[in-house]
Amino acid sequence: MAEAFLTVRNLHKSFNGNKAVNDVSFDINRQEIFGLLGPNGAGKTTTIRILSTVLAPDSGEATIGGLSTSKQSADARKLIGVCPQDLALYEDLSARDNLIFFGRLVGLSSQEAKTQMLQNLTLMGLEERAKDKVSKYSGGMKRRVNLAIALMGKPELLFLDEPTVGIDPQSRNKIFETILGLREKGMTVLYTTHYMEEADRLCDRIAIMDGGKIVAMDTPRHLKAQFGEPEKTSLEDVFLKLTGRSLRD
Ligand SMILES: Nc1ncnc2c1ncn2[C@@H]1O[C@H](COP(=O)(O)OP(=O)(O)O)[C@@H](O)[C@H]1O
Ligand SMILES: [Mg+2]
Repeated sequence: MAEAFLTVRNLHKSFNGNKAVNDVSFDINRQEIFGLLGPNGAGKTTTIRILSTVLAPDSGEATIGGLSTSKQSADARKLIGVCPQDLALYEDLSARDNLIFFGRLVGLSSQEAKTQMLQNLTLMGLEERAKDKVSKYSGGMKRRVNLAIALMGKPELLFLDEPTVGIDPQSRNKIFETILGLREKGMTVLYTTHYMEEADRLCDRIAIMDGGKIVAMDTPRHLKAQFGEPEKTSLEDVFLKLTGRSLRD
């Protein structure tokens, strides 16, 4: 039987009366790629911020590897890697120095940080540009550095918040390939996107979010089968049927 690695129960978070996250519950099994799919403002980033212990929920509980994200947050944090929606890196430093810096920040020895830096830059196809300042990189390369940083410390669960927005197809494919490769080696992934074809291609299961709520949750195939023949239906159609609105708006 599949083992839930992340559990989320009845999360709520409001900002000035606006319910950004409204009673969200789901589980992610080990080695699963789980997608949170929804338009801008759906509550995806707020959910990730709560689960990555950056933000406290108003109510609700979450566990990672059995550890409470509120009561055992320091230990839970050791299990996760976060690739935030807004790039979190130093433009004035090389990719190499960025990775070493963040590796040291998560407690790696200098030697281990160097070892993992090399591994992760190679994984992302950036080893030849490792010594260049990140400010010289394309948007897609910066995204790949962001993902490489998230892998420092060898997390077991990766949070990827819209990692492919505004990047070139080469970087996008590299990111997809990397995520699938990491999963083969045991990684569990929470992936947010507003691109339905991306969620369809990559995710084992998807929760469709709208207005802070999960409005549907299943495999892409089952979601599509609810509304037509899976081969002829898109997740865009599913979103439209569920909410009466287009995901692209
Ligand atoms: N720090 C904040 N302060 C006030 N409102 C916020 C804050 N963060 C998010 N929101 C609001 O919460 C809602 C959900 O936002 P967000 O989680 O960023 O959605 P998504 O990532 O799906 O685009 C939006 O209405 C957004 O404006
Ligand atoms: Mg967001």
